[in-house]
Amino acid sequence: MGNYQYRPATEAESVQIKDLIHEVGINPMGLDWKRFLVALDEDGRLVGCGQIKPHGQDILELASIAVSPERRGQGIARRIIEILLEQNPRPLYLMCIEHNGPMYEKFGFKAVDNAGMPKYFQRIKKLFDVSKAIRKIDEGLLVMKLE
Ligand SMILES: CC(C)(COP(=O)(O)OP(=O)(O)OC[C@H]1O[C@@H](n2cnc3c(N)ncnc32)[C@H](O)[C@@H]1OP(=O)(O)O)[C@@H](O)C(=O)NCCC(=O)NCCS
Repeated sequence: MGNYQYRPATEAESVQIKDLIHEVGINPMGLDWKRFLVALDEDGRLVGCGQIKPHGQDILELASIAVSPERRGQGIARRIIEILLEQNPRPLYLMCIEHNGPMYEKFGFKAVDNAGMPKYFQRIKKLFDVSKAIRKIDEGLLVMKLE
């Protein structure tokens, strides 16, 4: 297990955050460095990140949870999520591909159905479902909530 530092991002790390998000292949929209928490290795390299993204009033999304492939399985995402959960109010929402659902269940998130999610997430899920049908993808998109 490495020795990692966790702290708010600085402007200079904006590019590294975007690079990591692109590398791991998750939503590249809304990556304002000011909202990010980052994990740094012994040499100060950015190896993980996460943020809380606001969508209008009262709707907060845990998003952009990413860890460099060679640093996975060491609890980096766990620590990032724990810190963001400590620092933010409830409810918190998130969107993820179905296979990541069990990871977020460990932190108390529960999948919500259409009726249980704010309009913003209903819209995104609808778009995802349409593109899923067109692209013939098997996996669905989960919207989860932590009360
Ligand atoms: C998902 C990801 C962030 C996990 O990072 P990580 O640092 O390896 O995760 P951790 O080592 O902190 O694991 C945290 C916990 O979740 C579990 N876990 C990790 N990935 C999981 C998965 N895909 N499914 C289920 N459980 C998972 C771990 O076993 C661990 O459980 P424990 O603490 O009870 O032992 C990383 O694999 C990644 O960057 N993936 C690509 C980007 C992505 O899919 N991000 C999520 C967007 S919703």
